[in-house]
Amino acid sequence: MIDVKLLIDNAFEAQKNAYTPYSHFNVGAALLAANGKIYKGCNIENAAYTPTNCAERTAFFTAIAEGVKDFTAIAIVGNKDGIKMGEGDYCAPCAVCRQVMAEFCDLDTFKIYIVKNREDYLEYTLGELLPLAFTGKNLE
Ligand code: THU
Repeated sequence: MIDVKLLIDNAFEAQKNAYTPYSHFNVGAALLAANGKIYKGCNIENAAYTPTNCAERTAFFTAIAEGVKDFTAIAIVGNKDGIKMGEGDYCAPCAVCRQVMAEFCDLDTFKIYIVKNREDYLEYTLGELLPLAFTGKNLE
C-alpha cells in the first residue's frame, strides 16, 4: 500500500529547497523506492537556464546515485512564489522527466501523483502520461 499522504508531505518538504531565482516556480518531488525509502528532489535553476534540473529528476538521480533503481511512485507539487502551501495548481511532470521515469520505471505500475494538496490530487500510471514510450526495449 502506498502512503500517498506521506509522499505528499515529503514533496512539500522538498519544495522548500527549490532554487528558483529565475522562474520563481518552486517544485518538490517525493519518489518512493521499492525498498520503502523516499527520495526528495527540488528544481535547481541556473543562470544559463538549460542546466536547470527539474525536481523529479533531482529525486531520481539522488536515488540512483545511492544505488537504488526500483521505484513505486512519485508525488509532485509545484507553484510560484507567494502561493501558500497546498493552494497551488496541479504541476504535471515535464516530458523530459517522463522520459527519465521510463528509463527506470514500469509503464503499467509506476504511479504518478500530481498534487494540489493532501486531499486533492490526480493519480496516473507512467504509461498513461507517456503513451508509446521509447525505451531501452526499442534498442534491443
Ligand atoms: N519544473 C520542474 O521542476 N518540474 C516539472 O515537471 C516542471 C518544471 C521546473 C523547472 C524550472 O525550474 C521551473 O519549474 C519552471 O519551468
